[in-house]
Amino acid sequence: MSIIKLENVYFSYTADKDVLKDIDMEFEKGKVYGVFGKSGAGKSTLLSLIAGLETVKKGQILYKGKNLNKMNKDDYRSNEIGVIFQSYNLLPHLTALENVVLSMDISKVKMSNKKQEELAIKLLDRVGIDEEKAKRKILQLSGGEQQRVSIARALSYGAEVILADEPTGNLDKETENEIIEILTSLAHDDNKCVIIISHSSKIKQKVDILYYLVNGKLEDSKASKK
Ligand SMILES: Nc1ncnc2c1ncn2[C@@H]1O[C@H](COP(=O)(O)OP(=O)(O)OP(=O)(O)O)[C@@H](O)[C@H]1O
Ligand SMILES: [Mg+2]
Repeated sequence: MSIIKLENVYFSYTADKDVLKDIDMEFEKGKVYGVFGKSGAGKSTLLSLIAGLETVKKGQILYKGKNLNKMNKDDYRSNEIGVIFQSYNLLPHLTALENVVLSMDISKVKMSNKKQEELAIKLLDRVGIDEEKAKRKILQLSGGEQQRVSIARALSYGAEVILADEPTGNLDKETENEIIEILTSLAHDDNKCVIIISHSSKIKQKVDILYYLVNGKLEDSKASKK
């Protein structure tokens, strides 16, 4: 059973040009998906649609069988979907810990402050941020460390779908490998649905299923692993 399904999806920013055309895709839990394609192919746009940040012009996106357009998008974004950006999108003057706890506050996670902090420390530890680093401001962490924090944040409210837009774009090879390990483990060990947009050949090797976008269309109607 797919957790996310796109049916005949079209999207355009302007009236004269479809950025995504007739997209059919399915995503299941427990698997890592890679979305590849040239710059401008529509990858980030696709991710924005799945994340509920944009609305399809035609067709539909189903989350657990429900039409996304009929769901409360704010609830959806803050509870069901964890997003990891290339630029991390963390609040720089807060600590790593505060960034993670803040996103729990925004979501429906109801627990005491103490419990929230304990969980945040655990999640940060899992992605390689120890307690000392967790208490540093984001500004005092390296790029790779910030990316780890943004993964912990995406995990903080138990979302089953993790979306990542070029999560290793700014990282060295070794850190890239570690981030890929974390993301694949989320799918294979924690049964999450992990969708990664990337240009990285390393990620291409590691994903379970590959999708290629060419000028806003899926190259094959079916997912392929090459
Ligand atoms: N807010 C916007 N308004 C108008 N056009 C946009 C907007 N955002 C993106 N586009 C256009 O939509 C197309 C797809 O953009 P998108 O960002 O999805 O590409 P991408 O595959 O993620 O590329 P990259 O690999 O460079 O990140 C491009 O032609 C882009 O110029
Ligand atoms: Mg992009």
